[in-house]
Amino acid sequence: MGVAWSDDLAIGIGIIDDQHRKLIERIAAFSEAVERKEVDQIDETVNYLVGYAIQHFGAEELLMIRNCYDEFDAHRDEHSWFIKEVGRVHRNLVEGALSPERITELRDMLVRWTLEHISVKDRRIARFIR
Ligand SMILES: [Fe+2]
Repeated sequence: MGVAWSDDLAIGIGIIDDQHRKLIERIAAFSEAVERKEVDQIDETVNYLVGYAIQHFGAEELLMIRNCYDEFDAHRDEHSWFIKEVGRVHRNLVEGALSPERITELRDMLVRWTLEHISVKDRRIARFIR
């Protein structure tokens, strides 16, 4: 499953759009490593991805708090879910417990989650702030 930034994903808050572009670049790097079935690369890109996701979600959560965002709790739960899933992928990779099919499934799920989350949930924050 390929993934790339497109301007359709922009929510209209410059700093968040820049971070989303970087997040998607990291997901794309992970996705390509899965495609090539390179376990070391998969693990490295997962680490890189989770580090950036934590940083970006923190910035987004601060923006929500500052703006008294009405759906903060539910939004934060979605972020936590993503971090937990990526953490689980990492743990399973380290333990050698994932089949290539399962890694591909997890990758597809993370890609779908991200595109859906940005297009629906993050866009709602931008609408609320305006
Ligand atoms: Fe978000």
